[in-house]
Amino acid sequence: MVQPDRRGGEPALTRPLVVVSNREPYIHSRSADGSVKWSPTTGGVSVALDALMRERGGVWIAHGAGDADRLAVDDDDRVRVPPDAPAYDLRRIWLTEAEEHHYYEGFANEGLWPLCHVAHVKPVFRTEDWRIYQSVNRRFAHTVHAELPDVSAPIFVQDYHLTLVPGFLRRLRPEARVALFWHIPFPHPDQLRICPYRREILEGLADCDLLAFQLERDRRNFLAAARAELGARGSGSRLEVGGRTMAVCAVPIGVDYDRIQAVTRAPAFEAEQNRLRRELRIDTALVGVGVDRLDYTKGIPERLSALDALFTRWPGLNRQLTFVQIAVPSRSTLDSYAAVEADIDERVAAINAKHARADGVGPIRYRKSALRMRRLTALYRLADFCIVSSLHDGMNLVAKEFVAAREDLGGVLVLSELAGAAQELTEAVIINPYDVEGFADGLQLALDMQHDERERRMRALRRVVAGRDVFRWATEILEQLENLDPRSLPPAPGRLPGRR
Ligand code: UDP
Ligand code: G6P
Repeated sequence: MVQPDRRGGEPALTRPLVVVSNREPYIHSRSADGSVKWSPTTGGVSVALDALMRERGGVWIAHGAGDADRLAVDDDDRVRVPPDAPAYDLRRIWLTEAEEHHYYEGFANEGLWPLCHVAHVKPVFRTEDWRIYQSVNRRFAHTVHAELPDVSAPIFVQDYHLTLVPGFLRRLRPEARVALFWHIPFPHPDQLRICPYRREILEGLADCDLLAFQLERDRRNFLAAARAELGARGSGSRLEVGGRTMAVCAVPIGVDYDRIQAVTRAPAFEAEQNRLRRELRIDTALVGVGVDRLDYTKGIPERLSALDALFTRWPGLNRQLTFVQIAVPSRSTLDSYAAVEADIDERVAAINAKHARADGVGPIRYRKSALRMRRLTALYRLADFCIVSSLHDGMNLVAKEFVAAREDLGGVLVLSELAGAAQELTEAVIINPYDVEGFADGLQLALDMQHDERERRMRALRRVVAGRDVFRWATEILEQLENLDPRSLPPAPGRLPGRR
């Protein structure tokens, strides 16, 4: 049955979904006192898909990475989540340390991640990483096969960790209906050629029924690579490859706009903002924020250089402006991540020393831990500007969340032209993170912006973000998936083919 969507009058598919990703949405870990605690994980995939799964239900298959994850599951390795308001099943897959090392840290994050992001970190491809990446992908596919509630249930695979899952799955369940969303930029064929295993990866992706990207550019890059490497044919939304036809589309991801609105309207919201001000020792009239995983693609050193230039240009600004940087540690065992973390530590200390006020307090508050959604939304709301300065980014949901949090029409988004979000959020102050002085000009523009202009821009940004939320994103992809060649789907009794 197709239900009217309360968000925009669009139909929403309601059939339970099988989501597959490396990162799990909730993690269980041991506290210092030995008790087990849980927390949501950070990152665009888990935040966006959790919103969808809360609404739709089903099963989410992911790596159980927490040190107390095994204690929380039942005999079938499942746990109902969110733990405080259960809405769907999380089915955990266990990996050995060696598997995690070669598949996740090695192939996915030292190979594919830098291959796909132009951030000047050299990709590393090792035979052993590739071997284990393949075997872990095979394991994911077998688990999906075992968990599939019925053959017509849509399977929604996420991202670059699991490129081979569609192919393995197709061999196990030829009639399975598989979509994969590629959350990060897809490289140009010249760049992709660096990867010795590109053909196998392209073949794996070509085994999807539907492959979806954030931007048209990513879709074009995939089509060009599939034509060059696999002899695929077609340039529109259909691609013929290996005797099959697949759909390839670009659908930019969005945020849970309604939930963010609800948070901002809750009675305790103002108190939350005041608590944050106290905790972060914010005593200035102006506040700027940056919220990122601690990743070299996010352009945090470049952002600090621009802030340094701004404080240098504008004597006395250190008494008026506090900049809050939230950086959530990520992939910290890798040298490339440890290096950017050390670089940021040094820069923050240097700026705070150089631009300290008479009382010795510097203008940057740097917090290296995650905030939960309610507090994050409060932080967005108390900011006069938010900086997203990615060197390259598939989309960047922080940019959209900041806009969603600003029902008051306050705040300016300062956004890198190299983040996918810049294609839609054209009324942000657009900067280039490589141009320090130009970036500082952008910050100055944000601080000097007249009230009317700020409101006009925010109103326009909010129309874009509200108009394409995470539910519309998922509906667009899953409807396309379910509408592909309906003859191959066995109709359930008394129901429309492919739907219930
Ligand atoms: N996030 C969070 N707590 C934090 C920092 C970030 O929950 O302290 C979430 C944030 O709300 C966003 C996601 O992590 O939904 C980051 O997604 P984005 O697309 O910006 O970047 P990614 O980490 O996926 O590269
Ligand atoms: C990006 C990737 C996701 C990943 C997230 C967090 O958004 O596209 O697939 O889950 O970063 O990274 P992590 O390595 O912690 O899963």
